[in-house]
Order: sequence, then C-alpha cells, then structure tokens
Amino acid sequence: MEENFKTIDFFEDTLVLLDQRALPKRVTYVHCTTYKEVEFAIRDMIVRGAPAIGATAAYGVYLAAREFSSLHNQTDDEAFSAAMEDAASYLIKSRPTAVNLAWAVDLMLKEYKRLKEESIDTILSSLLNLADTIKREDIQTNRMMGKIGSALIPEKATILTHCNTGALATAGWGTALGVIKTAFEEGKDIFVYADETRPRLQGARLTAWELTQAGIPSALISDSVAATLIRDGKIDLVILGGDRVAANGDVCNKIGTFMLSVLCKVYGVPFYSAVPVSTIDFSIASGKDIPIELRASEEVTRIGSEQIAPDGMQVYNPAFDVTPNENVTGIITEKGILYPPYTSSIEEIRKTLQ
Ligand code: MRU
Repeated sequence: MEENFKTIDFFEDTLVLLDQRALPKRVTYVHCTTYKEVEFAIRDMIVRGAPAIGATAAYGVYLAAREFSSLHNQTDDEAFSAAMEDAASYLIKSRPTAVNLAWAVDLMLKEYKRLKEESIDTILSSLLNLADTIKREDIQTNRMMGKIGSALIPEKATILTHCNTGALATAGWGTALGVIKTAFEEGKDIFVYADETRPRLQGARLTAWELTQAGIPSALISDSVAATLIRDGKIDLVILGGDRVAANGDVCNKIGTFMLSVLCKVYGVPFYSAVPVSTIDFSIASGKDIPIELRASEEVTRIGSEQIAPDGMQVYNPAFDVTPNENVTGIITEKGILYPPYTSSIEEIRKTLQ
C-alpha cells in the first residue's frame, strides 16, 4: 500500500512540496528554488511534521550552497563558509521544537565542512546526494518502525491517535500512522479514532485525509471526546508521534498529547510514541529543556478565515507540550521498542550511533 502523493520531491534544482495548508480541499504544490523559500515553507507549515521538516531543510541547505556557489573560489572561501553557517541557522530557526530540523541541517553542514576544500561541483553533488539520502532513509526508517510497532497492536484493536504522523509528516509512510497503516496492511481488524487536533486541525485535515485514502476504518473526533472514549474502555491503545524526545524519555509532541497521556495513565490504557532515532535529542536531559514553539493568536481566534473570538482577546498558543516519561508505556523506534527506565534504554541507542 503506497500513498499516491509525494509530500516532498526534488528535481531540476527545485523542491516541490505538497501544500498542506490547502488540504484536504485542494491538492496543490509549492515550488522552492531558494533556501529562503524553504524557510518560509517550514515556518508557514506548507510542510510540517518533524521528519518532513528535517528532510525539507536538508534540501534548503543544498539550495543555499547552490545560491552561494559564485562565492566559492580561492579568495572567497571564508565568505562561502560564513554564508553557509548563516543559512543553516536561518533554516534551523524556522521552527524551534522538532529536533529533526536541526539534526538534518547539522548533518548537511558537516558534509559541507568536510568537503569545503573541494570543487563546487563536488560540494553540490555531495550535498544533494546527502539530502536525497536523508529523504530516502526516512521512508525506510518508517517502514521498519511500522513493522516493529505493529507487533504491539492486537489482531482486533481500537486505536486513538493525535495530530498527523503519516506520509504527510514525513518523507513517506509515517511514524505513528505508519505503525497503524502497517497493522492494517497486515490484515489486523483495526478502528482508528483521530483527534481533530486544534488549533491547526492536522487530525481533521490531514490524518482524516490519509486514513480515508488508505481505506482504514476510522472516525474523526473533537479533541475533548478522547476522555470519554478512554474512560469507557473504548480505546485499546494510543499511538502518536513525537517532535523531540529527551534523554530521559520525556516526549514533546503536539499540544494535547500530555492530556491524553494522563487519561491513559488513570484508565490503564497503553500510551506509545513512535519516533525515528533522529527525533531523540541525546543532549537534552529532560523535557524541561525543550523549547516550545508559540504560534500566532489567529490560529486560535479564527477557523480558516472565519473569526471566532472577539477582537483584542489575548491568546496563549503553544504548539507542543511535554509528556513526562512516567506516562509513556513505550517508545517505538526503527531500532526497537524502548521501555522504562528510559535513561538507560535511550543511552543504549546512543551507543549504537557512535
Ligand atoms: O506542528 P506540526 O504539525 O509540525 O506538528 C507535528 C506533530 O506534532 C506530530 O504529531 C508529530 O508527532 C511529529 S511528526 C511525525
């Protein structure tokens, strides 16, 4: 079961992004040929989802190098390096919470530094190759996570998910939704409740679109319905994604995740986060240190172009929250399922990367 759309594509020095702001009404694409256009695409959520913005930003670094290539000659190497560093931090700042963005940009910058004495053609082709690899490996990682995570799903199960963690949030297939799709592909009898995910409605607009396309039996719910379903024993497990996981297993994810984790803990429902290892920030000891993006008030005061709150009303609009590790039953990764105590299971993963 392949999805019939591409979230991220790259050809003829153009990054082509499925415009997620327009879904599900319109399937349209945005073309980026400069790193500033890439930064805007991430900031304005044309593309969103931790792994997807990582892969997108990697192409942004390549486009920056291409733009600056005229600076690359014997006398101007320093100017080229400085421009690359500036472009990298400009891209990283577009969205502060998901660590995959900084992870991908750092990988690209390291590759540039490794090659900076080489010809511009070598630099450009290696950077493009690395961006393609990041995109391709993300899909492989998601497929692997899908297989590993599906083992947790009973033959018949009702699953609740939050936000969008599918092909749209990644280079393809998806993280938590990838696990759910794999279980469905394996013939399991599953039913999915998708939270609408206020205020950006990633659940209503994007997850519902993906579930419909995949033909997975499902229902859309407003976020506040989850409590009743969980209390009434209607949910066998919750699976959602993650934007940054701290070294102690605290999971930072879409706003509303923490609330679900508390409900799961109270009513004894397993609560899983599915993330690629690139979402684990080994340098951050706990979730307290994760920067939480605050977004525009209009996301809350309006639905689409319709104003729903009075003029002048103050708004507090954090895009993410942190779920403490003690509420997390397990973390599904492409390298296996991590269980508490997370400080040691995550440390084991870190060792495999050295
Ligand atoms: O603000 P978004 O849409 O970029 O946030 C994405 C999420 O929070 C997803 O739920 C997610 O878990 C990470 S992407 C697989």
